[in-house]
Amino acid sequence: MSFDLSVISSKNILLAVTGGIAAYKSAILVRRLKDYGFNVRVVMTHGAQAFIQPLTFQALSGNPVHTELLNPEAEAGMGHIELARWADLLLVAPASCDSLAKFAAGLADDLLSTLYLATKAPVWVAPAMNQQMWAAKATQRNLNTLIEDGVHVIMPDAGSQACGDVGLGRMPEPEEIAQQVKLYFHQAERAIAEKFGLLAGQRVVITAGPTREAIDPVRYISNHSTGKMGFSIAAACYAAGATVTLIAGPVSLDTPNGVSRINVSSAKHMLDESLQSLERGCDVFIATAAVADYRVAEVAEHKIKKAGDELAVALVKNPDIVATIAGQSKRPFMVGFAAETRNVEAYASEKLVVKKLDMIACNDVSRADIGFASDQNAMTVFFAERYKMDKRELEKASKQEIAQQLVEAIHDARVK
Ligand code: C5P
Repeated sequence: MSFDLSVISSKNILLAVTGGIAAYKSAILVRRLKDYGFNVRVVMTHGAQAFIQPLTFQALSGNPVHTELLNPEAEAGMGHIELARWADLLLVAPASCDSLAKFAAGLADDLLSTLYLATKAPVWVAPAMNQQMWAAKATQRNLNTLIEDGVHVIMPDAGSQACGDVGLGRMPEPEEIAQQVKLYFHQAERAIAEKFGLLAGQRVVITAGPTREAIDPVRYISNHSTGKMGFSIAAACYAAGATVTLIAGPVSLDTPNGVSRINVSSAKHMLDESLQSLERGCDVFIATAAVADYRVAEVAEHKIKKAGDELAVALVKNPDIVATIAGQSKRPFMVGFAAETRNVEAYASEKLVVKKLDMIACNDVSRADIGFASDQNAMTVFFAERYKMDKRELEKASKQEIAQQLVEAIHDARVK
């Protein structure tokens, strides 16, 4: 299968700003693109720098601004070829007459024109110029050449211009451009999902089962989790086209087809493996494990002997795995689970916020017919507020069916 991993949260927009008064609008465009979760790097031509300072774009994008082609220092950072490869979309906004002419002619005498030739990413241009320059035969000829070459043109708006003229040539508002970019990636994502599965190409990491916290070499603290829900989700994610890593506590279940399994014992061990899987690349992290909240403060080196009527064992809090992963700077889409016996909705919503999750699936474990050892489950799914999605009730069904519905919920939230 050859398709691009496409998740908005990890898409890279290379925004090129050229010399025109509309360059001021591009500062806001960076903000809007960042609001939608895109990574943004900015390239400026020399002309653009006459209108606006690179520092503005550096501060807004959170990345250094690229301005030079033949500068050893700049090339030592992220060179032009690396930058061209980094981009998932080259967005030239505003695109001056000069930049369009250079692209059409295939010149490579500055950083931007070289990037245009060196990138495999789609190129979008948002021309902005005086209405007479826009109407000029040479400009229109260059535009036609670019369209033939596969460049997408964001057409300019008509209206009053900074130079006092009235006509076509104004760059559309930043919000409108950002929305078009978002829509483009969402449509691409939908097309991939339809063809290859809802999680096509996604790297999913799932924690499952209980953890085991040693007391001494022969005893431990654990819980009744069987890992069934996590294993069903792993199978459903694989069926949906994902690459799946299952970090499993001690359970007696077969590894689902196509899934890579890492066996762990304690919560600390599960956290270490989770962090390492994040390093290897993870787009979605699903925490179904019933992690022991506490571990024994000091594990005895030898078997503790019977003595007296009481035995006190000091416990210390375990790390919260899902919250730790959610707190990393390059965080995946985070899914948590909550098993509650009362106030299910209130507790789940609170966990969603406290643990910085994107989605939480919760079940009422006071119901004898679902949860833990049962083959069936029923859940309510809540999404972080920014997704503006209503909660979903997943009616009682087999854990396989619930897993399938969770995959759909994850997909829907991510393409929204
Ligand atoms: O706080 P509580 O245990 O109810 O939260 C449940 C969610 O948090 C589950 O997704 C569980 O896998 C995760 N969790 C975790 N590490 C912990 C405790 C819970 O990842 N130490």
